[in-house]
Amino acid sequence: MQMGRHLGFLLVFISLFIGLAVADWNILNRKKKNELGSSLKNYCESWRINVELNNIRGFDVVPQECIDFIGKYMTSTQYKVDSERALEECTLYLSSCCTFKGDGKDAWIFDVDDTLLSLVPYYKKHHFGGEKLNMTSLEAWMRESKAPALQHTMKLFHEIKSSGLKIFLISSRRECLRTHTVDNLIKVGYHGWTNLILRELEDENVQVQNYKANARKRLVDEGYRIWGIIGDQWSSVEGLPTAKRTFKLPNCLYHVS
Ligand SMILES: *[C@@H]1O[C@H](CO)[C@@H](O)[C@H](O)[C@H]1NC(C)=O
Repeated sequence: MQMGRHLGFLLVFISLFIGLAVADWNILNRKKKNELGSSLKNYCESWRINVELNNIRGFDVVPQECIDFIGKYMTSTQYKVDSERALEECTLYLSSCCTFKGDGKDAWIFDVDDTLLSLVPYYKKHHFGGEKLNMTSLEAWMRESKAPALQHTMKLFHEIKSSGLKIFLISSRRECLRTHTVDNLIKVGYHGWTNLILRELEDENVQVQNYKANARKRLVDEGYRIWGIIGDQWSSVEGLPTAKRTFKLPNCLYHVS
């Protein structure tokens, strides 16, 4: 009995000692610690990149454990640099891609939200996509017309305009937001687009991707040659007719299909 108890204490002591030693080793071994600490970061970055690759689709909210990560990315210099790089590739493409006829039928398409205007300030107040989208509240925010511009898109917007292309804005915003959207665009420095296409009542039951493809179809039928599209959603660039080239800006806050 006495012997058993001693043995018991000894075993407890030994396992405690081993436990502490292992914990100590983890703390002292910084490489090991970093690996453990970065696995969530790896998971979230991998989630983000797969959203951009169009492998992850149709999510309602960003993963709860990644809210901090997504928030940091969308407000980071990296997000700006990633966007700028995409836009620089547009400039590069434009420098040699096309022979514009100059008959007023050369066209370029832009998305509005998170392409010309940033919704990041709205999402910042709503857990960076970590809560389910409340359209009433988002549209109320859009009516305030205070979305900032994405500065580098603005630069490209004006370059494209001065090269003589007609600019079409195709947005999934509803027609009832037209005045507020135009006010917002002009206030931050966009002007001179040919048409802002918004969703009419009858488009509201159509998938955004189809609505946008239909809008392009009408442009092509009117004789426009669409040389490029810039958007932050795959649904802005997929479907037919398409453009000669398309450019995707980063956005992992939400998914529009
Ligand atoms: C959505 O937002 C509106 C306006 O802010 C609010 O009145 C409503 O309760 C919200 N709905 C949900 C489901 O959270």
